[in-house]
Amino acid sequence: MASILVLYHSQEHGNTRAMAEALASGAKMAGAAVSMFNTNEGRLDIERFRAVDAVAFGTPDYYSYLAGGLKVFLDDWHIAKQANADGLAGKPYCLFYSHGGGGAVRVPLLKLFQGIGTMVGEPVESKSMPDQAVLDACRDLGRDLAKAATK
Ligand SMILES: Cc1cc2nc3c(=O)[nH]c(=O)nc-3n(C[C@H](O)[C@H](O)[C@H](O)COP(=O)(O)O)c2cc1C
Repeated sequence: MASILVLYHSQEHGNTRAMAEALASGAKMAGAAVSMFNTNEGRLDIERFRAVDAVAFGTPDYYSYLAGGLKVFLDDWHIAKQANADGLAGKPYCLFYSHGGGGAVRVPLLKLFQGIGTMVGEPVESKSMPDQAVLDACRDLGRDLAKAATK
């Protein structure tokens, strides 16, 4: 069974969390074991990332950039990889983000996560609270990530 981590930041309205939950449900329906972590509630132990087959990353747009919690993850990941790269690169991953009407976070998001491995699909975005079409797109992306993780 493929293992998937949904790593996201959600703090203001729960918009990104709603996307994360839809993505997780799509991955579970495709047979993956899914764990979730909101960086608003703490700092991820990088060993949790090392242990999984694939990862979904989600963030709100904060000042046209990632939320700080996701940036801390990237810093930890880069430093840990220098010491021991096993399980820290070459994973399938996918991206999602929410915003208040700007959404310029898309550019740094695409750039900064490139080193993780192979991106699955295209980033799913939501303006404010995700509607049904966005939730469906998140579920589909979770399903596709689960499939990529089992290859
Ligand atoms: C500190 C802060 C900065 C923000 N900066 C932007 C921004 O530059 N562009 C934008 O479109 N939305 C911006 N927003 C709006 C959030 O991206 C949006 O409300 C998001 O859906 C919140 O996600 P959450 O409910 O999961 O926390 C900002 C919100 C906060 C709290």
